[in-house]
Amino acid sequence: MAFIKLLLLILVIINGLENSTQVLVPDFYNESCPLLEEIVRYIMKTKVLRQPRVAAQLLRLHFHDCFVQGCDASVLLDSNGVIVSEKGANPNRNSLRGFEVIDEIKAAVEEACPLTVSCADIVTLAARDSVVLRGGPSWEVSLGRRDSLTASFDGANKFIPTPNLSLDALIANFKQQGLDTKDLVALSGAHTMGVARCVSFRQRIYDTSFAENIYEKFSSFQNSLSSICPRSGNDNKLAPLDFSTPAYFDNHYYENLVESKGLLHSDNVLVLEDQGGNIQDRVWAYASSREFFFESFVNSIIKMGNINVLTGLQGEIRKNCRFVN
Ligand code: HEM
Ligand SMILES: *[C@@H]1O[C@H](CO)[C@@H](O)[C@H](O)[C@H]1NC(C)=O
Ligand SMILES: *[C@@H]1O[C@H](CO)[C@@H](O)[C@H](O)[C@H]1NC(C)=O
Ligand SMILES: *[C@@H]1O[C@H](CO)[C@@H](O)[C@H](O)[C@H]1NC(C)=O
Repeated sequence: MAFIKLLLLILVIINGLENSTQVLVPDFYNESCPLLEEIVRYIMKTKVLRQPRVAAQLLRLHFHDCFVQGCDASVLLDSNGVIVSEKGANPNRNSLRGFEVIDEIKAAVEEACPLTVSCADIVTLAARDSVVLRGGPSWEVSLGRRDSLTASFDGANKFIPTPNLSLDALIANFKQQGLDTKDLVALSGAHTMGVARCVSFRQRIYDTSFAENIYEKFSSFQNSLSSICPRSGNDNKLAPLDFSTPAYFDNHYYENLVESKGLLHSDNVLVLEDQGGNIQDRVWAYASSREFFFESFVNSIIKMGNINVLTGLQGEIRKNCRFVN
């Protein structure tokens, strides 16, 4: 009898570990890998100093990881055996970058504390440092994520939003991830850094059904975009997402939106398609207060970093972020 009780107790504990979805904590690696945050920060700092866009790349990597199966480093897996890499999916192909930086961080972390720190946590820390290194807010990152044993090519095509979505479609897309309209507006502010390819904003320039085109006062902006991105050709030519301060994490992205000078259709719809006014009001509020934007962004990116995380005994700690062990 006592034996059976003990067995049951053990089963409950194991089950609890497997299900422990709320165990992310900032000091998860305090004992097992005390230098973790310093290692990540040091390598990020070196890379971003050399090339500021690295910050944008790693922030986006965290987003594309979390929206497919949750923040589980599935995006880092290369095709191998049964794994079809997410890297080849439409939103990622020829566009998502920063994998070598993660490899470098992981190698340094493996040297300091072998088989201890997940790739998913490294991506999350690198995203936080990216924001800080370009002048944005800082926050404490909760840790303890585990790495997936699978990737989802179809999930990447299905769940990562495309730049020609309407506001309603963006809202629905974020809702699927448990994110609300406040999160949508605040997280879109990540487009204060980095660039997009011509293919990502061509439709926004020439498709006359797109709202941006009906506003005469934006025509000079439209013209400058069309000189970078003609009706055909130049597919990979780059334009800044925030043309005023492309390398800094600030609130100028929202100042641009108020003038419909967002680069992507999905940026401009936050103002142009909002009927109720709540979303538009938030854009104005962020445009006029950097502090309010920073505070909201931190809340929302922490929320994003908790999407469907693997914890406890789920998944694994990968040795090499590109392959399951
Ligand atoms: C709201 C829906 C979103 C859409 C439709 C969207 C779409 C895009 C597109 C099309 C690009 C350019 C890709 C290219 O042409 O190569 C881009 C770049 C970028 N996105 Fe988003 N995005 C969204 C939300 C987010 C979020 C939530 C984040 C991060 C929290 C983010 C971070 C970035 C960054 C930093 C870049 C620049 C990357 C670089 O310079 O390499 N985006 N996004
Ligand atoms: C653990 O998770 C599974 C599936 O998500 C669920 O069916 C089960 O009830 C959970 N167990 C506990 C102890 O929470
Ligand atoms: C973990 O480390 C951080 C940073 O060094 C420190 O602020 C925190 O108090 C530590 N937590 C524990 C439980 O030791
Ligand atoms: C949005 O872009 C995708 C990919 O380029 C395309 O297949 C789709 O038809 C576009 N949707 C709209 C509404 O234009």
